[in-house]
Amino acid sequence: MGKPKVVLGVSGGIAAYKACELLRRLTESGHDVRVVPTASALHFVGAATWSALSGHPVSTEVWDDVHEVPHVRIGQQADLVVVAPATADTLARAAHGLADDLLTNTLLTARCPVVFAPAMHTEMWEHPATRENVATLRRRGAVVIEPAVGRLTGVDTGKGRLPEPAEIFEVCRRVLARGVAEPDLAGRHVVVSAGGTREPLDPVRFLGNRSSGKQGYALARTAAARGARVTLIAANTGLPDPAGVDVVQVGTAVQLREAVLKAASDADAVVMAAAVADFRPAAYAQGKIKKKDGQEPDPIVLVRNPDILAEISADRPRPGQVIVGFAAETDDVLANGRTKLKRKACDLLVVNEVGERKTFGSEENEAVILGADGSETPVPPGPKEALAEKVWDLVVTRLN
Ligand code: PMT
Repeated sequence: MGKPKVVLGVSGGIAAYKACELLRRLTESGHDVRVVPTASALHFVGAATWSALSGHPVSTEVWDDVHEVPHVRIGQQADLVVVAPATADTLARAAHGLADDLLTNTLLTARCPVVFAPAMHTEMWEHPATRENVATLRRRGAVVIEPAVGRLTGVDTGKGRLPEPAEIFEVCRRVLARGVAEPDLAGRHVVVSAGGTREPLDPVRFLGNRSSGKQGYALARTAAARGARVTLIAANTGLPDPAGVDVVQVGTAVQLREAVLKAASDADAVVMAAAVADFRPAAYAQGKIKKKDGQEPDPIVLVRNPDILAEISADRPRPGQVIVGFAAETDDVLANGRTKLKRKACDLLVVNEVGERKTFGSEENEAVILGADGSETPVPPGPKEALAEKVWDLVVTRLN
């Protein structure tokens, strides 16, 4: 099999320079990339750069190399088209099926998955015309990544920033792996919690756990690549924001509960992959707790934290919502998982074994997904993304 063929469409925005990094990641990971810039994109990064980095000639118009019919061939032969950055103008032309340059011709002839990574000023992103164009493209099966929030051109900040190239690359990788499968979470809002809560004892110390957040981030990334609007509630992770995902940072279990309940009010699915502390210190010492000569330390009194998973499973903030929990077990893994599923009353419970160096922080996971309907789906050892995809497969079945 030859290298997967990727078309990188680049439209005319200042973020075009970031597409060079995306191009490099795609070529270095074994993809054959053809860059198709718009004429305005070349005001920001010249054809020589795209050509040198991709190893292919670069053209913006349908009139070059006419005998090779590039306006049809490039799209027909592609395994993936990614447009990054996608300006408001390019989204509009794509949504309306215009074909006035090589990129829009390519988009019309492509039968492979298409990913748009928009970048523009917040006002343009929020304009009803752009909203409708994005909705049209999503309805037709394209993955339109939500822009990031942050510094835009000049002094402006807001939503509209191109996500980091490494994260756009992850979306491309996931979409390519799924092939022509429909983005089956398009139009859905999903909430994922990730990481481990920290319950402060004093300004210096906390009670915490070993969760890195990798499993939750894999769930967020894979959901975004399947077209979902994703809210990721991240507790103490320190991981880069996945592309197209709204990230809400929290610290404690109480903060996590607040953020999950707020986001869950209009969510189609909630997946609780975060390791949430069951208890927190009853009192918070304003100053660092000191050791006292000749005295035993004071015992730490704990109080219970709210059980967020049990609460949303019971209340279902939105009717028909699918609720997924995780169970981190060290012994009697499946038996404890089955008991936990009943107690938490969620629809699916992903039971995984954990230990000091098992599952926490690793790139891989292995689990059995228990269903409230009595189903048991084993997921063999593999990347956390593979487990995440399986979770979404089961969620999609229940949503439909
Ligand atoms: O982050 P990684 O390093 O990638 O590791 C992944 C993981 C091991 C953290 C993840 O796969 C996992 O198992 N997450 C759940 C950890 C956990 O808190 O398990 P639990 O069995 O204690 O809780 C069961 C469920 O109830 C979980 O969905 C948890 O989010 C939820 N819970 C727990 C306590 C609480 N007070 N409120 C809750 O909602």
